[in-house]
Amino acid sequence: MIIGLSMGANLFILQAMMNNLTLHQQSVPLADREEKNGHRAAVLWLSGLSGSGKSTLAMAVQKELFARGLQVTVLDGDNVRHGLNAGLGFSETDRDENLRRVAEASKLFAESGLIVLCSFISPLSKNRVLARKIIEPLAFFEIYLNVSLKTAEARDPKGLYKLARAGEIEEFTGINSPYETPENADLIIENESQDIDVGVAQIIYLLQQKQIIS
Ligand code: ADX
Repeated sequence: MIIGLSMGANLFILQAMMNNLTLHQQSVPLADREEKNGHRAAVLWLSGLSGSGKSTLAMAVQKELFARGLQVTVLDGDNVRHGLNAGLGFSETDRDENLRRVAEASKLFAESGLIVLCSFISPLSKNRVLARKIIEPLAFFEIYLNVSLKTAEARDPKGLYKLARAGEIEEFTGINSPYETPENADLIIENESQDIDVGVAQIIYLLQQKQIIS
């Protein structure tokens, strides 16, 4: 038992030792990176229906934080599925794996000192719980973009709801695949009709309140 580490962390270390793997400590601690950057690292996990505005909001927040001189990046569902997660579909098993990998990837970015905006439907409560489990004790905030299915479907920016209704896309979230509304979100953004600047301001305020940025 390594004192100061959680039981879960000790279990991972034990597993790694059994597989003849060794964990190497980073030669530059996160605290040093954060001091150099002038802000703390964090993962902001944006969840919501397709068409709820996750990507647009994540990109707008990224732009604002970058303009303030902060270290920031965005991991987005559509983008990640072109590369790291190409080959994964939309079955429950594939979504689980998509989101597990993304949580691990965002942890790597956060350990490098960045503020990471993750924009994924992450439809099931267990997906969001696992992401939090992987990323904590690094700062993790779940943000729910609340937009009704009716509004998301009316927006239909990629024409996918129309295809799903026509039976041309299987397991489409909200139509024939579930979305479990987050019940323990750190922030809810009512994104039915509000201006994008309001969502950006809400996220910046959260980061200030949680002392990630000043
Ligand atoms: S998640 O469920 O695994 O979190 P993710 O956020 O990566 O999904 O990808 C969602 C994006 O993939 C949507 O914004 C949409 O553009 C596209 N997509 C394609 N097929 C589906 C589908 N069956 N369900 C939901 N989104 C889909």
